[in-house]
Amino acid sequence: RRRVLSGIQPTSDSFHLGNYLGAVRQWVQLQDEFDAFYFIPDMHAITVPQDPTVLRERTRRSVAQLLAVGVDPERATIYVQSHVPEIAQLTWVLTCVTGFGEASRMTQFKDKSAKAGTDAAGVGLFTYPILMAADILAFQVDQVPVGEDQRQHLELTRDLAQRFNKRYGKALTVPKAYIVEEFAKIYDLQNPTAKMSKSADTESGLINLLDEPKRSAKKIRSAVTDNDRVIAFDRENKPGVSNLLTIQAALTGREMEEIVQSYEGKGYGDLKVETADILAEFVTPLRGKVDDILSDPAYLDGILADGAARAREVASVTVADVYDKVGFLLPR
Ligand code: TYM
Repeated sequence: RRRVLSGIQPTSDSFHLGNYLGAVRQWVQLQDEFDAFYFIPDMHAITVPQDPTVLRERTRRSVAQLLAVGVDPERATIYVQSHVPEIAQLTWVLTCVTGFGEASRMTQFKDKSAKAGTDAAGVGLFTYPILMAADILAFQVDQVPVGEDQRQHLELTRDLAQRFNKRYGKALTVPKAYIVEEFAKIYDLQNPTAKMSKSADTESGLINLLDEPKRSAKKIRSAVTDNDRVIAFDRENKPGVSNLLTIQAALTGREMEEIVQSYEGKGYGDLKVETADILAEFVTPLRGKVDDILSDPAYLDGILADGAARAREVASVTVADVYDKVGFLLPR
């Protein structure tokens, strides 16, 4: 079976709406059709400082959220990155086929390090995309469902796989990004030309799935729109309105055209109230589900133990082949 893989960082208490619509929703759909691997990249999380206790807690919460939105441990392999040491083993080999300039061109690194300052930005932040390439290449993956902001990292992953194969002989599958254009970039409600992100300057444009629906409704009511009063989908000239329409389309599965038509003669107030209602309907059951899952640590631990065992089985085959191809002596 063809294989799909993706990850979400355990760096906040709740997934945000961009994570869900841009990526995790597709994970749920793809697990029927593909051999699916979904994981929590805790090793990526520590590329910026994390409180150890909080990180552990958020790792569990992230798994619980995946289960709550419908990732199914019967169909998908669910694991924590640090439980699969083969990923770190492959990372080193890939680091040695990555050009310094190539790594320096990663825009996410440039943005994050500009924010942190040169000394606060660690080398881990710099090599982050190589670890991400190892996450993917260790599993011989065909498709990687992600949001738009990960596209460049996927390009690097493909380049590294091709380079390795050319230099040492074919050991790695060259993966493709699976990006659903319409939903690949959900925007900040207060700043609708920037992506919704947990690292934005204020939380007022960020919708967390596990927030009180009332709190999110309030944020949606104060979402930035524009000065005319026409409800139309036009990302260029009406980014705020288009973002709300996109959120509606994603959560209802309705066609954009049909949604826009339904707003003929209505105002921005209606658009906002209805978007908030649609969101509330989706998120309301999630909080209870997450709490239920977290209240049974043995259940969650069991899923992660099975997931790690299965993941290691697959990744160790790749690492053995890669180690052999680069000329490492087999230990006896
Ligand atoms: P992370 O944890 O930042 O985000 C998880 C997923 O959410 C997507 N996303 C968005 N999509 C649409 N609109 C937005 N505003 C938005 N914000 C975030 C991201 O594109 C991502 O798909 N480096 C990755 C995690 C990772 C990974 C991997 C992914 C580590 N190893 C291997 C795939 C394969 C990251 O930081 O995602």
